Amino acid sequence: MTEKKRSLSGIKPTGTPHLGNYLGMIKPAIKMQATHQTFYFIADYHALTNIREPQSLKEYTYDLTATFASLGMEFENHAFFRQSDIPEVTELTWFLACLTSKGLMERAHAFKDASAKGQDVNMGLFSYPILMASDILIYDSHVVPVGKDQKQHLELTRDIAQKFNNDFGVDFFPEVEPLIFGTATRVMSLRDGTKKMSKSDPSDYSRINMTDNADAIAKKIRKAKTDPQSLPANVEKFEARPEAANLMGLYADFSETSIEDVCNRFGGGEFSAFKKQLADLAVAMLRPPSVPCASVRSGRRGRRDSRRRSDLLWLDGSG
Ligand code: ADP
Ligand code: TRP
Repeated sequence: MTEKKRSLSGIKPTGTPHLGNYLGMIKPAIKMQATHQTFYFIADYHALTNIREPQSLKEYTYDLTATFASLGMEFENHAFFRQSDIPEVTELTWFLACLTSKGLMERAHAFKDASAKGQDVNMGLFSYPILMASDILIYDSHVVPVGKDQKQHLELTRDIAQKFNNDFGVDFFPEVEPLIFGTATRVMSLRDGTKKMSKSDPSDYSRINMTDNADAIAKKIRKAKTDPQSLPANVEKFEARPEAANLMGLYADFSETSIEDVCNRFGGGEFSAFKKQLADLAVAMLRPPSVPCASVRSGRRGRRDSRRRSDLLWLDGSG
């Protein structure tokens, strides 16, 4: 029997998960259970670069776990854990940090963006990509399902792995491939089509939370920003029409068709009618998960794994 390839990914417990997290990372990750040996984790150490309250960290960790559970994550057959459960990851981080140049870290977008905004950059944020490289390399991962915004982190992982292999004249760490798939790899804010949908946006109307009920989902789509023209009939128009591009991309992803098909079907039509159909589709796709999600969330039963320090996760979902 040929061994299955390994798929690994992590997600930070820094807020309630939203549609961008779902389409960019959670949906592909869950799908890959059928074809890969999967390792998924809650990146609680990465979250410490900006979260200070222990209670928030705990709550968001439950929210994320409940979201995965309700969307079909099979905890019995696939590894699902907290990053902090595996202390070897932080040990490897130190070894890799000693090989990684400061110049390489200065190229990282997360660090550059925070510096450009005049934020106080802590060393955790600065060396964030090294911890992420350890996450990926320690499990000999082959593919890493992530949203588009994580591409640079995976390039940095490859640079760090190559540096290790070159410095020691070995072929120890393999090349890792980012897996960015689907038509909505970068879901944009519903209030501004040029900004990424994000947990940190102050407006709740900018995103669909995975905990939103059907009414909230439909209302947010109805109120989503648009422009005064009719829907574009081809993708060439998308650059100048970011809100239309975003909504049509969502429709394509939900219905698993191509953007071209969506343009052919709705091009020239009114936003209001299209939004109604998009809302129905979104509710059909997201509403079933949000019911069990809430019940897993309130059930909150944890199974302790005696081999690890974890007293959390490994939810059995039996409420
Ligand atoms: P956020 O930006 O909301 O804090 P994270 O940085 O925790 O989200 O991202 C978790 C995962 O979700 C990553 O794989 C990331 O690429 C993906 N992701 C986050 N936002 C989006 C988005 N708007 N569109 C597509 N994927 C996204
Ligand atoms: N940096 C990722 C994010 O912000 C989270 C993450 C941590 C991750 N370690 C990882 C993703 C390893 C993929 C693989 O979403």
